[in-house]
Amino acid sequence: MSEFIINGKKRLSGEAEVQGSKNAALPILAATLLTKGENVILNCPALSDVDAATRILRCLGADVSRQGSALLINCDGISCPVVPDSLMREMRGSIVFLGAMLARCGRARVSYPGGCELGPRPIDLHLKALRALGAEISERHGVLECTASKGLKGAKIALSFPSVGATENIILAAVCADGTTTITNAAREPEVVDLCDFLCEAGAEIYGAGEGTVVIEGVKSLGAASHTIIPDRIVAATLMSAAAVTGSEIVLKDIVASHLGAVIPVFEEAGCEIKSYRGSLRIKAPERLSALSLLRTMPYPGFPTDAQAPLMAVASVCRGTSVFAENIFESRYKHVDGLRRLGADIDIEGKVAVVKGVETLYGAKLQAHDLRGAAGLLIAALCAEGKSRLSGICYLERGYESFETVLSSLGADVMKV
Ligand code: UD1
Repeated sequence: MSEFIINGKKRLSGEAEVQGSKNAALPILAATLLTKGENVILNCPALSDVDAATRILRCLGADVSRQGSALLINCDGISCPVVPDSLMREMRGSIVFLGAMLARCGRARVSYPGGCELGPRPIDLHLKALRALGAEISERHGVLECTASKGLKGAKIALSFPSVGATENIILAAVCADGTTTITNAAREPEVVDLCDFLCEAGAEIYGAGEGTVVIEGVKSLGAASHTIIPDRIVAATLMSAAAVTGSEIVLKDIVASHLGAVIPVFEEAGCEIKSYRGSLRIKAPERLSALSLLRTMPYPGFPTDAQAPLMAVASVCRGTSVFAENIFESRYKHVDGLRRLGADIDIEGKVAVVKGVETLYGAKLQAHDLRGAAGLLIAALCAEGKSRLSGICYLERGYESFETVLSSLGADVMKV
């Protein structure tokens, strides 16, 4: 089992390139199932979750190879619409393969993704929408059997919550369905827009991506596309947190500042100076940060739940008290235990966390329990006095590509052992 050894209190400087977005890459990999010919997916991060998605594609009969940061994917040989249980369990994001498999093969068998480290994660919205598009779905012993014997047909779907995964699954099922599909209260995340951009490059007709209402005109078939994945806004927010807690000035390259619309003001409130220009962002942190008033996680364009843990590490060393309200997932405070071990003063009451900033954190032995929580603990360890050991970094590696190398290149003392 690998772990990170972090010697904190090192000032960061220099430039870092931000990797491609994991959450954009996964549904785009699923989308290749609908295409004919060879797709080139550029800026595709090398992560264990992306690796799991490529194994699902191969298991379904696709030809996948990596050339540097590009994935070449040809799905002409897709034969068997069954994802084994072991692969489904590797990551919850695999549920987006369901809509694409149904559309491509007319049937699909997947195991129910079940709960995960963030608490119960139901897929009722996905299943209700796929049924509205004409799928027959039965569940036995945790296995979902889905068929679309009469083909998928366009429908009007009103989501009761703008679920990212459900919006992506509906789009994937609808692009080659018969007729028009309209999704209201659709998720507006940049990753949904990136999926639609890929599909449109391959010949789909999708209107309103990034808005609350998305209209999909079903087309007969899709060709292949060459597409560059958008930069990862959560990795950018994590690197901004690293600069903030260490009182540093760094430049992030390859970012889309508008994707950080709810994140940048939080750092500014903490006293950081931020300038963004032509795909770069410079952040300069003060010696001591100011508290954040109220940070509420919300669907996009609100503050992203995935950046909550890194920002809680920031709040731990701010002057004054910060309040967090986690509105998206039930169990998303598992990093708090580790932050407390470092000396943070945090109280939790339901979905609210009250963080009283302390002057200094002190190195400790830490255990990560989920992907973004791991990032939060790593950020806190960067500003802790002395040495910390972080285990459970397999979680971090699901979403952050060679993060110890990125941080070390900026001057942090982080070693993987
Ligand atoms: C995606 C992201 C994840 C991010 C989340 C919210 C991927 C691979 N993952 O996850 O990193 O934290 O968006 O921005 O892109 N819900 C239901 N029923 C459903 C579906 C969702 O009740 O059928 C609930 C969930 O339990 C959760 C909320 O809706 O409380 C948000 O979930 P959703 O937007 O679907 O997140 P994911 O797509 O799973």
